[in-house]
Amino acid sequence: MIATNTTSPSLRPSPCPALIFFFRARQGLGLRLGALKESAILSTMNNHQHEHYMSRCLELASQGLGHVAPNPMVGSVIVHNDHIIAEGYHEKYSGPHAERNALQNISQPSLLSESTLYVNLEPCSHHGKTPPCADAILEAKIPHVVVGITDPNPLVSGSGIQRLREYGVNVTEGVLEKESKELNRRFLTYQTKKRPYIILKWAETSDRFLGPLDGQRVPISCKESQLLSHKWRTQEAAILVGTNTAELDNPQLTARLATGNNPLRIVLDRSARLSQNLALFDGSTPTLVVTERERSSLQGVETLSLPFNSSLLPQLLTHLYEMNIASLIVEGGGYTLEQFVEQDLWDEARIFRSSSELGEGTRAPLLSTKLLTSSTSSGTDTLAHFRNKL
Ligand SMILES: NC(=O)c1ccc[n+]([C@@H]2O[C@H](COP(=O)([O-])OP(=O)(O)OC[C@H]3O[C@@H](n4cnc5c(N)ncnc54)[C@H](OP(=O)(O)O)[C@@H]3O)[C@@H](O)[C@H]2O)c1
Repeated sequence: MIATNTTSPSLRPSPCPALIFFFRARQGLGLRLGALKESAILSTMNNHQHEHYMSRCLELASQGLGHVAPNPMVGSVIVHNDHIIAEGYHEKYSGPHAERNALQNISQPSLLSESTLYVNLEPCSHHGKTPPCADAILEAKIPHVVVGITDPNPLVSGSGIQRLREYGVNVTEGVLEKESKELNRRFLTYQTKKRPYIILKWAETSDRFLGPLDGQRVPISCKESQLLSHKWRTQEAAILVGTNTAELDNPQLTARLATGNNPLRIVLDRSARLSQNLALFDGSTPTLVVTERERSSLQGVETLSLPFNSSLLPQLLTHLYEMNIASLIVEGGGYTLEQFVEQDLWDEARIFRSSSELGEGTRAPLLSTKLLTSSTSSGTDTLAHFRNKL
């Protein structure tokens, strides 16, 4: 759904001096000329063009995956006469926002007053780590802004768009809304559910086992799937496994086969029985141990003490939210994955299915086939993708 609005309510907040100048310049003759220019621009832009430029914003934004969390991934393009004259994206957490980067990259600032700025997320209106982008757009005298989705962050939540409209900027909303939501599903879940976006990931045999009963470590997925798993690790803020998996498989849970950041390693260790010799405690990258004990004797780890009852996972997720962890990938084992599924605490599941058989072992969780969204090849495996509550 696309909505455009140019209303200018009579009540306005106190603007900064540059904005007062801009606003006054838009009164009288200035306003009439400005309005003429805006309507000319709007009449020449159709939905197809809006979608074309918004899709470029999404493409740019996606380069922030794994670098900007818990911030959203945002891209912006500035268009003049159906040509992109500048573009930018939010490149790293605490760095400049997409709109500022796009404005920074402009070579002919005189064109800005006849241009349209596209951005996949509503421009911010608050002073965070950087000044408000809505003000930067107003100061640049851009008459038309096209937005993908509004920002659910309570500090913004429509006020960025409202601020632009209050100063006479024409704002078109809802362009590629579905795609914009999809790209920022981690951020939107983190903001609205006050917990990380949860991805369950496992590899299962064709007879649906995760591993053998004797505790031997048996690789199930193929090399291509393992490389993909490591790439996925660079995209999420944290990774979690249960106690038995840490003990039996001795995983490193790093992204060493890919290029990018390691996620925070999290391991459940109710009775503090895990040995210091495990790879998870090698100090190569931070590890959080969740235990029922007051403290863990493990060296070089952070400890979180929580009661191991039915509220363990909700409490843990609240802690992760408070630690600014916007996404979590859960990599097993069976019991741990099952707890997330039973408590309906998951958003996405990625399952590698190999052609091998085990006959018996640790059962893989079973998800409703109604939630299956795609089934593709990954080397010799099949990769099944599920979404919770489509
Ligand atoms: N194929 C794959 O993708 C894959 C991935 C990982 C693991 N695996 C395999 O899976 C097997 C291990 O799975 P598993 O089911 O035995 O063990 P697991 O899920 O790794 O660990 C289970 C243990 O973790 C603790 N725990 C986990 N979630 C809890 C919760 N919500 N509340 C309370 N305690 C919780 C409990 O420890 P306490 O008993 O101390 O309370 C529980 O017994 C191994 O064979 C491993 O190789 C396969």
